[in-house]
Amino acid sequence: MVYAASVGSVQDEHFDEDARALYLMDHPDSTEEIPTIDISDYLAGKPGAREKAAAELRHVTETVGFFLLAGHGFPQSRIDRMFTEAKRFFDLPLEIKNKVKRDKLNGFVPPSSYTGNGRLIDGIKPNLYEAYTVGLDLSPDDPYVQNRPLRMVNHWPEGLPGFREGLVEYHSTIIGLGKQLLDLWNEALGMPKGYFEQFFDKPRTTMSVTHYPPQPPEMVGQRQYGLSPHTDNAFMTVLAHGNVPGLAVRMPSGHWRAIDIKPGTFIINTGDIMVRWTNGRFLSTKHRVINLSGAERYVFPVFISPDLDAVVECLPTCQGPDNPPKEPPITCQDICVAYFKDY
Ligand SMILES: [Fe+2]
Repeated sequence: MVYAASVGSVQDEHFDEDARALYLMDHPDSTEEIPTIDISDYLAGKPGAREKAAAELRHVTETVGFFLLAGHGFPQSRIDRMFTEAKRFFDLPLEIKNKVKRDKLNGFVPPSSYTGNGRLIDGIKPNLYEAYTVGLDLSPDDPYVQNRPLRMVNHWPEGLPGFREGLVEYHSTIIGLGKQLLDLWNEALGMPKGYFEQFFDKPRTTMSVTHYPPQPPEMVGQRQYGLSPHTDNAFMTVLAHGNVPGLAVRMPSGHWRAIDIKPGTFIINTGDIMVRWTNGRFLSTKHRVINLSGAERYVFPVFISPDLDAVVECLPTCQGPDNPPKEPPITCQDICVAYFKDY
């Protein structure tokens, strides 16, 4: 069975209402391009490079919502180490991992225990993955942690020397990379230099170290996913490639594109907070994971959002008399509280 036609709008679709959309998601056949943006000239400060990269970013984010980032200068050794640390953690016995079980935001999520945004599909089965999530590694005494409904301290496992240091080093370096992109978002959206940076002093970021076991092919089409289709509740997400495929993205045609592994690049997508900030101009694109490789798949996406007290308010460049703001201003904290209320 092959569905060739487009399946309509990208946003706000309930998959279960359209069996064709469900089929397309489970069988990625798109050959549409996931664009690559090279920021090496921008980082080197070459004349015109900022405007060129920002224009590419604007186009990609208005049309696809996913791109590959090249020329970023991120040390490969830190990525390599993360794969080692991820395997060390997930190889621990379940009873040891359960000692750091998720407490609201951070900690261990056991296999097949979480359905997530699977509400997009009726009758969906829990995700096959197991995960270990951390936020900024702040002390319980940090004033930024106190009296918050959400920001919880990290729960580190015992008996894994170097694990915490490896994760914190990677996470903080990725946040630094993300901050370097903020000025491109300023330019892409016609905002002054420094606009987005003011909202990212202590960004609400989560790194979700994730293990996807191999999924038998007969499970495909049975509403079973490694990670069910969803959009990210973040400003942007930064994901390093491993050597095991499984991620697929809904493209503008409605067909799904399997993400090719392209060493040396990061996969970046814009999330729901960017949609809100841009009045729907920038996309938050659905994606999902099915690991049919026969191998264990480890990844560690970093979800970057603004400070908890940052007010996300429709940008002046994304509204007008014929295009009023679709959503009222809201703090990042309130966005997160609403998102995590079902956890
Ligand atoms: Fe995601």
